[in-house]
Amino acid sequence: MMLRIERVLNAEKLEKIRAILDGAEWVDGNETSGHQSRNAKRNRQVKQGTEAGQRAGQIVIEALGQAGDFVAAALPLKVFPPLFNRYAEGEAFGAHVDNSIRRLAGSDFRIRSDLSATLFLADPASYDGGELVVEDLFGEHQVKLNAGDLVLYPASSVHRVMPVTRGERTACFFWLQSMVRDDSAREHLYRLDRTVRLLSTERGASDLAVLELTNLYHNLMRRWADA
Ligand code: NI
Repeated sequence: MMLRIERVLNAEKLEKIRAILDGAEWVDGNETSGHQSRNAKRNRQVKQGTEAGQRAGQIVIEALGQAGDFVAAALPLKVFPPLFNRYAEGEAFGAHVDNSIRRLAGSDFRIRSDLSATLFLADPASYDGGELVVEDLFGEHQVKLNAGDLVLYPASSVHRVMPVTRGERTACFFWLQSMVRDDSAREHLYRLDRTVRLLSTERGASDLAVLELTNLYHNLMRRWADA
């Protein structure tokens, strides 16, 4: 499932993160690369483990917790600390796959990456190129979103970032382990959750059909989720 979540960050939070990133220490993006993606990647990243990265990441994590659609769609169990990257003119990230298991250097923290997320931080009018391209069996999906919007996509997909041809593309990216490992099961739950919310708005939360569907949702969660 690929999903766009709009306005994860409001203007105030965007401003805060941009100010933090302007004063951050940027290093070669290959700091976090697996060996397959090393050749393909040309960009910069905020140095992992630095205070600036952690502060900006904390703002993102808090915003994600308030983004109802993100929580409903991703059903997050563990979120890898968000990272920040920047592509200047001529920089790109060729076709690659993300590692299945991500370990946080210097700690016991590790996750199975079920979902990848990119949170766009730059105004799309301020740069050309830089589209995230995600491949599936249908073909390619090009994604370039407003600042503050996020795309959620299966970490299992081959993907790339097109060369930036003008300006700079700044984004936040992270992986997460979902309570529901299977992508299609997670999509069923998300669709059911949306339906229940819609029906609940029309009929009220105590309506019998709403109650039965809510029960079905939770019983499917019991069947499919790890908590
Ligand atoms: Ni990637």
